[in-house]
Amino acid sequence: MSMLNKVCLITGATNGIGRATALALAAQGAELFVVCRNAEKGEALLAEIKVRHPNCCATLLIGDLGCMADIRRVAQQFLDTDKPLHLLMNNAGVVNTHRKLSRDGIEETFAVNHLAYFLMTELLRERLVQSAPARIVSVASAAYSFVKGVQFDDLEYESTPYKTFKVYGHSKLCNILWTRQLAKQLEGTGVTVNCVHPGAVSTGLGHQDHVVVGKIIGLLMRPFFRSPAKGAENSIFVATSPSLNKISGEYFSNCKPTSLKAWAKDDGAAERLWQVSEEYVKRA
Ligand SMILES: NC(=O)c1ccc[n+]([C@@H]2O[C@H](COP(=O)([O-])OP(=O)(O)OC[C@H]3O[C@@H](n4cnc5c(N)ncnc54)[C@H](OP(=O)(O)O)[C@@H]3O)[C@@H](O)[C@H]2O)c1
Repeated sequence: MSMLNKVCLITGATNGIGRATALALAAQGAELFVVCRNAEKGEALLAEIKVRHPNCCATLLIGDLGCMADIRRVAQQFLDTDKPLHLLMNNAGVVNTHRKLSRDGIEETFAVNHLAYFLMTELLRERLVQSAPARIVSVASAAYSFVKGVQFDDLEYESTPYKTFKVYGHSKLCNILWTRQLAKQLEGTGVTVNCVHPGAVSTGLGHQDHVVVGKIIGLLMRPFFRSPAKGAENSIFVATSPSLNKISGEYFSNCKPTSLKAWAKDDGAAERLWQVSEEYVKRA
């Protein structure tokens, strides 16, 4: 689908899958709003877009997605442009090897990978509905199957031993449950919401807090991993394919709706997660 005259807001586009997604959307003619925490990296991306796609209009919105005040400010900056919003791509994510807190004092993986998706989408929801047909695409992961349900009694892994892949998988399970719950709420509005698994992709993921070990593992694993451009294909397909105009609440892998394990289809857990997420964003 041509993205000409379509306005897209994407998070986590300074690296990896998000960067490849932003470049592909720019190539398809979209106007981009890029949310990033590092202005220098953001400027570098914009410069690259300008060289490759001189007609693309791209704007930076600087904010830390681990800080809800920043998310609110960035969303307001976008709303103040009075532009429509046709695509919200929640892509930014982290993997940590030890328990870290976000600027709001919340376990960082839960904060950035789930609560930021939740809050950003809530803040932009009305604009998306006004701009319909519109899409919300969130980057989840097959890592959701590393856990067997949402750990409501210890969402932030305060007392549970911190195991990198479990904590990460837990946040990605939240992405899927939240997507399904949101799809029900958005039924009939012309806004669809889906999530994707990009495959195993060679990116900066996991390098943030353990640079040396992360880089060595990354180098060893690279031959088995997809390139960021390949990893972005699923996101781009779900964001732009005309064949998906009416498809909502799905989890896509390799550009196909893919069945989920029982705990990722637990509607009771999805409702409870929604309530808990609302409480978190009200508190911060
Ligand atoms: N790589 C894989 O194999 C894989 C597999 C399944 C799912 N995923 C998912 O794919 C998505 C993209 O990850 P990736 O693999 O492309 O990782 P990446 O190369 O590390 O990119 C992550 C992006 O998120 C941004 N980000 C992280 N924390 C942020 C914060 N607090 N505020 C603002 N931006 C923040 C990073 O910004 P900086 O550049 O400033 O660090 C970067 O742009 C994630 O949701 C991840 O969970 C990845």
